[in-house]
Amino acid sequence: MNIKISRREALKLGLLGSGALLLPVALQQRGFADGPKPIDPPPPFQVALRIPPVLTPTRTDATTDYYDITQSVAKQQIIPGLPPTTVWGFNGITPGPTIIARRNREVVIRQTNTLPEAISTHLHGMTTQMVFDGYPEILVEPGSSYEYRYPNLNHAATLWYHDHAIHHTSTHVYQGLSAFYIIHDEVEESLPLPKGDYDLALNIQDKLFAPDGSFIYDNNGNKGVDGNIILVNGTPFPRFEVANRKYRFRILNGSDKRSYKLALSTGQPFTVIGTDSGLMTKPQQVSEFRIGTAERYEVVIDFSQYKVGSQIVLQNLFADKKEPLSQIMRFDVARQEADNSSIPDTLRNDYEVLQESQAARTREFRFERSNGLWQINGKIWDANRADATPKLGDVEIWRLYNNAGGWFHPIHLHLLLEGFRILDRNGAPPFPYELGQKDVAYVGENESVRVIGRFVPFKGKFVFHCHNASHEDHDMMSQFEVI
Ligand code: C2O
Ligand code: CU
Ligand code: CU
Repeated sequence: MNIKISRREALKLGLLGSGALLLPVALQQRGFADGPKPIDPPPPFQVALRIPPVLTPTRTDATTDYYDITQSVAKQQIIPGLPPTTVWGFNGITPGPTIIARRNREVVIRQTNTLPEAISTHLHGMTTQMVFDGYPEILVEPGSSYEYRYPNLNHAATLWYHDHAIHHTSTHVYQGLSAFYIIHDEVEESLPLPKGDYDLALNIQDKLFAPDGSFIYDNNGNKGVDGNIILVNGTPFPRFEVANRKYRFRILNGSDKRSYKLALSTGQPFTVIGTDSGLMTKPQQVSEFRIGTAERYEVVIDFSQYKVGSQIVLQNLFADKKEPLSQIMRFDVARQEADNSSIPDTLRNDYEVLQESQAARTREFRFERSNGLWQINGKIWDANRADATPKLGDVEIWRLYNNAGGWFHPIHLHLLLEGFRILDRNGAPPFPYELGQKDVAYVGENESVRVIGRFVPFKGKFVFHCHNASHEDHDMMSQFEVI
């Protein structure tokens, strides 16, 4: 791991002058100044897509599944022909093991930190009490363990767990602390959607690698990492063999900063069936969609129209066609199979659809850059300050405002049981693929996005922040306190 550290960051960490090294051991190995140049991207579609293992509970009882996870430094073979990469992983792998949960059945995860730095594990999308939420200042020190309790009150959805340590989320997640957590429920299971081997989660991340296989971390003076190699589930520009039938893909953008505009090389549309907080009411057909950090979109791709031998590339239209970053992965139609799955016209309608008239108040949050820091309403993170105090059960409208060109902010709110709904963006309706319940709102350049949500079911302090992890760490994060 190589790190580029700005002078301001160095001052903040006390690295200049005192000489005290506060960087994690893995980061101390090589400074950026004498560090190597990143390698060029390897040729695409050489490596088969990795599917992270599903974790088995350590034990179960009538109400609860118990898991044990060790956060550890390990080696993982990522780039063909290069030595293995040193990763920080849940159980030593990246992405970490997938956890499969059921709505209303409790999960308890004991996280043991054997890493060189303090960690706070957040299960993104889970509604849980503050002490189990991966609050950035409730840190689990190296050598200690912490038990997180998750009630799984949420609808069936694609969640993910990742580090949330104050001011260090970006490097920790970049080094590999990221994994899926999927909730199922009866409504979802009663639908004829693709299931089992035809239901896959894809974690898309961009990275830089040194010739010795290690990650290079360069977040451009806290603007965010610009990787030149895209990993899907820890495999570079992979290929995946599919049958000529429908598949459900749960797509997560697990990158530090990069957003993608996804499309298929054949021009075939995606059927979007789910957003961050679960299934949409009605599926939406779109030929492309943008996905910012931490957003999840669930799509169905029907490969039945292709002959065996066809190759379909998942493209990123935000990169020029000639750039390696324009091709994320490839689907190779490898066999014929029967398909009895289908996509119903109505997926589920048991979410509370909040109306503007229900809102107790509207709050405004400006996400901006000032004095070299990322700020919210002109302020940086302060654990002793809450910038909103909704009453338990209140419905609120939040207007999220990015007054600049040149960058965008994926804004995430913790806690809300059913997430929020996007009311409008610059006064216009949200994109069709955003019509579901969400916990991240993509606030693009010069955009003002209004979201509506209900502050339930727990009191306490919960953070909201930009999910560009470099922005979040420096210092575009605040909190609300439900009273
Ligand atoms: Cu994905 Cu506050 O986190
Ligand atoms: Cu979260
Ligand atoms: Cu941001």
